[in-house]
Amino acid sequence: LRILMVASEAVPFAKTGGLADVVAALPKALGALGHDVTVVIPRYRGIPVTGEPSTSYAVSMGGHHYQANVYVQQTSPGVRVALVDHPAFFDRDALYGIGSQDYGDNPRRFAFLCLAALEFARLEGRPVDIVHAHDWQAGLAPVYVKTRYAGDPVLGSAATIFTIHNIAYQGNCSSDWLPQLGLGWELFNTDGLEFWLHASLLKGGVMFADLVTTVSPRYADELMAPEFAFGFEGILRHRAANLLGILNGIDADVWDPAADRYLPSAYQADDLSGKLDAKRVLLDTYGLPTGDDLARRPVVAMISRMVDQKGLDLIASVAEQLPHLGAAFVILGTGEPWYEEMWRSLARRYPDRVGVRIGFDEPLSHVIEAGADLFMMPSRFEPCGLNQMYSLRYGTLPVVRATGGLDDTVQNYDPASGAGNGFKFHDASGEALLGTLRWALHVFHNEPERWRQLQRAGMARDFSWNASAHAYLEAYDRARAQVTGRQG
Ligand code: ADP
Ligand code: GLC
Repeated sequence: LRILMVASEAVPFAKTGGLADVVAALPKALGALGHDVTVVIPRYRGIPVTGEPSTSYAVSMGGHHYQANVYVQQTSPGVRVALVDHPAFFDRDALYGIGSQDYGDNPRRFAFLCLAALEFARLEGRPVDIVHAHDWQAGLAPVYVKTRYAGDPVLGSAATIFTIHNIAYQGNCSSDWLPQLGLGWELFNTDGLEFWLHASLLKGGVMFADLVTTVSPRYADELMAPEFAFGFEGILRHRAANLLGILNGIDADVWDPAADRYLPSAYQADDLSGKLDAKRVLLDTYGLPTGDDLARRPVVAMISRMVDQKGLDLIASVAEQLPHLGAAFVILGTGEPWYEEMWRSLARRYPDRVGVRIGFDEPLSHVIEAGADLFMMPSRFEPCGLNQMYSLRYGTLPVVRATGGLDDTVQNYDPASGAGNGFKFHDASGEALLGTLRWALHVFHNEPERWRQLQRAGMARDFSWNASAHAYLEAYDRARAQVTGRQG
């Protein structure tokens, strides 16, 4: 299949969250299965390119012409990444805005990305089978395919897929934007882009795509309910027959304890001594005490955007008790200033028990995954979550709230049979988190054989993209059949 993917981030070029991992790893898996994938993302500030652009063209939108200079690189067999350069839109300090303040012209920036991607395909002239758009930033791609490019020789018979990675981010804006994005007023209605009197780019993707997917089966169910769908519950119920949950995979080459270039020693399930080496390096890095009894002193880790979604408010409600659980805490992340300060303050007062790094640090995140014993994800909602899968692969037991992809991937420890691969709680409360941490630490200290069994169960599970890539291919086929049915 010829697949055109549109998204706002992809590793190794730009990353603020799991979306970037997925938009790199899914194409790689599809390419390996023999498909031809072009991934279009913005060329943000600092993304290196060499030489002249591979192609340059003007994109017309709302009566203006915007220049697109596109740099194409092959990233793996069958996969090309096309970086769209337009400095006025993308050469900025950040991807989406400063702090929690979005750039005011985001609708124009990302509408341009969608049009630049579609025009890129048209210039190449070969018919596209699938246009796969991710999150609100790419929400207008299906809209343009079905309106502006209806009947186009390259795009006219493409099936469109829209993947929701996080429904809390919706790309809502004033309807005044529509003409500037080249969209007619006939699209501003409840079957189109209108969302509570605003225009929503996310809704564009949801309504115009042939098929909507999200990143875990459980989240697909949850999206039917108001507490998870942030105003989209009715819209998604309306589209339920064409909504599908496909669990993300992980890049099993990048996240592999047996071949991880950031670790002091490699390790595998049958010999975890390398994991202990990582623990020593980790504690050293954080300035926490090491020592001979390292194996018996538990380390609890968290790598996260520090926002309510990730359960930081639950943590805040019991933060003062964490240092008294008898474990060391290592924390990496950035986010809301009050949460950053909460961790900093704990680290100041308990320098031998709490270590905190505020920042984004990919190499360190690998050492944390390897060196920790427990990984904490008390999310209020979690469409999929990648870190619990990285943790399982690294023999680090996840402590998670039973929501979204966390619920789909973590099986609670069953003391009766010894089955499971982690620890899970249901209540969105600090007390539930604390109780589960206590329970996990009890098992760590008192049931070492059971602990090993849980580690082995997690490490044995296959989270690679292989299965999920096939699920996407089935979704693509289904969407294509719908389009052919409609046209035939
Ligand atoms: P989300 O996309 O909602 O933030 P995910 O679990 O899907 O959550 O993905 C987050 C990704 O970003 C993971 O790969 C995680 O390791 C990474 N990450 C998050 N914060 C940091 C950080 N401060 N430093 C390094 N990596 C981080
Ligand atoms: C979003 C979600 C996260 C998911 C990621 C990749 O950022 O918050 O749960 O893993 O997208 O799909």
